[in-house]
Amino acid sequence: MKHLLESQQLDKEILFELFKKADDLRKLEPENLLNELKGKILATLFYEPSTRTRFSFESAMLKLGGEVISTENAKEFSSAVKGESIEDTIRIISSYADCIVIRHYEDGAAKKAAQVSRVPVINGGDGKGQHPTQALLDVYTIYREIGRLDNFKIAIVGDLSSGRTVRSLCYLLSKFTNIEIIFVSPENLRMREDIKQYLNEKQVKFREEEDLNKILEEVGIIYMTRIQKERISQEDYEKACGKFIINLDNFNLIKKSSRLMHPLPHVEEICLPLEIEQQDERVAYFRQAENGLYIRMALLLFLLKN
Ligand code: CP
Repeated sequence: MKHLLESQQLDKEILFELFKKADDLRKLEPENLLNELKGKILATLFYEPSTRTRFSFESAMLKLGGEVISTENAKEFSSAVKGESIEDTIRIISSYADCIVIRHYEDGAAKKAAQVSRVPVINGGDGKGQHPTQALLDVYTIYREIGRLDNFKIAIVGDLSSGRTVRSLCYLLSKFTNIEIIFVSPENLRMREDIKQYLNEKQVKFREEEDLNKILEEVGIIYMTRIQKERISQEDYEKACGKFIINLDNFNLIKKSSRLMHPLPHVEEICLPLEIEQQDERVAYFRQAENGLYIRMALLLFLLKN
């Protein structure tokens, strides 16, 4: 695996190797990591906003002793503004850096980048396509939180038609045994057919439900997502907004052993008091985001040192 473009590329063997490495990395003293990628340069090329993906990749590289080059907003401050193609931009950056993380507003942009890159390309999210490192940190989080990746039920909730994180997650979940997925989404933002077809081919049990409260007690993982206002029409947004919310009224339907996840950022779909977000073990989404740092460190080592 030279590039990471879609989560189907990650087999179980690679996943567990990365989990083990991430677990080891979080235990090490920072000074013991500084030679790992010394002399290597990571370029972060983000055409869309990001907090977690960009900062965690940059922090991961710095913690491993490497350097980072970046642009604040590639859509506005790279030569894309002058009409440069993604391919030309990547040809150039791949002669300046040892690895490129790209986030782009078009599906398939990371694949286009990989076709011309001399160095590993990591898809940091492409349009409504995929976000494989998010799925990687999601399954790592599930593994850490409930101790297994087989035999559990997961509710995936929210905007499932434009959500790239949930698409990548479905591909990864299908690698495990006895997983049941319950999709809960507004009528107008249902999971797309290609993913449903893939799950059928892989014999993954799934169903669609309309009542979030009805299934909260049933599942081990509740994976909430934001309605992606920036990717849908105003009409679709208004139809969907506020339809599925976790708040104090329904939070306690979630079993003590279950976990509430979210790729973040969250807006109105999770509406819990600060003390619950800070203290209740069931709220896993901040630990999930932190896991992103260690699993991305492991991934950088895998791609740059293997
Ligand atoms: N989950 C995620 O991709 O977050 P950012 O958009 O902040 O990177």
